[in-house]
Amino acid sequence: MYRVLKRERIVPNIHLLVIESELIHKNAQAGEFIVVRADERGERIPLNLVDWDKESVSMLFMEVGTSTSKLAALKSGDAIATLAGPLGRPTKMVKDQKIVCIGGCYGIGALYPVIRAFKKNKNNIATIIEARSKFLLYWQDKLRQYSDEFYEVTRDGTEGFEGHINEFLIDYIRKNKVDLVYVQGCTYLTYLASETTRPLGVKTVVGLNPIMVDATGMCGVCRVIVGGETKFGCVDGPEFDGHQVDWDTLLARRRIYLGEERYSLSFYECERYG
Ligand SMILES: Cc1cc2nc3c(=O)[nH]c(=O)nc-3n(C[C@H](O)[C@H](O)[C@H](O)COP(=O)(O)OP(=O)(O)OC[C@H]3O[C@@H](n4cnc5c(N)ncnc54)[C@H](O)[C@@H]3O)c2cc1C
Ligand code: FES
Repeated sequence: MYRVLKRERIVPNIHLLVIESELIHKNAQAGEFIVVRADERGERIPLNLVDWDKESVSMLFMEVGTSTSKLAALKSGDAIATLAGPLGRPTKMVKDQKIVCIGGCYGIGALYPVIRAFKKNKNNIATIIEARSKFLLYWQDKLRQYSDEFYEVTRDGTEGFEGHINEFLIDYIRKNKVDLVYVQGCTYLTYLASETTRPLGVKTVVGLNPIMVDATGMCGVCRVIVGGETKFGCVDGPEFDGHQVDWDTLLARRRIYLGEERYSLSFYECERYG
């Protein structure tokens, strides 16, 4: 069992989870993920590593279904059944480049170790975080410290640029020379950013979140089509060239267990609340 040091709600649907671990930090790198299981009956779910030190690892998760609801109910001193990692390939590092880093929902937190590593490698970073409204934005100060420029985009205009990320991105790329766009967040955001940069010819790397089971390359559940080839998100990714991803297949595969996911959540809520 792995001890919960902290579980804190950051914004209404996103929580920080800090778990005791004396080993993971030794191999942790930006862009990698961890598999957690809330309890013995739970499923294994992948979450990006957002920070680590000698005693702990931190993750941010969005409460969307049964497993993340179980995690959201944890308190300091509780324990979780599984903590495995670091997994996946780390973010491919580049040097001396102009990089636009985009984060939305849990991806705002997932950007943190990546922009820290990009900055250490002397890149110039413009960070853009986006949400429906101001109250869903977080970690501005943590991200600003490694960003040369920092922007916020809200669809309702309550903070920063009013509108969609694609409108802001097109304008930014037209006015600035950008070598790389890096995106973390839900599938729609990674898709939208990739389709925005494709006609502009700017290389775009996206963190994908296909459904995973073993996360070690054995089960094949996380397969994605990239550049016409089948890749496994857990061992070949989770980051890929957004212009090479077959988005239709990815979006369809993410929906294959929708019925079971809904059933599982109603069952869990009935058990919990009666
Ligand atoms: C490599 C990798 C890294 C990931 N990192 C993170 C992370 O750092 N933080 C995080 O919150 N999630 C992350 N995810 C997604 C996370 O694993 C899932 O959200 C989680 O498995 C959901 O489990 P659940 O049982 O709570 O919900 P489920 O019952 O599995 O899903 C419930 C419903 O929510 C939808 N859903 C699931 N995930 C999302 C999502 N992220 N956005 C919008 N809708 C969703 C599903 O399609 C389904 O309809 C990552 C996924 C991968 C593959
Ligand atoms: S999750 Fe099983 S192969 Fe990737």
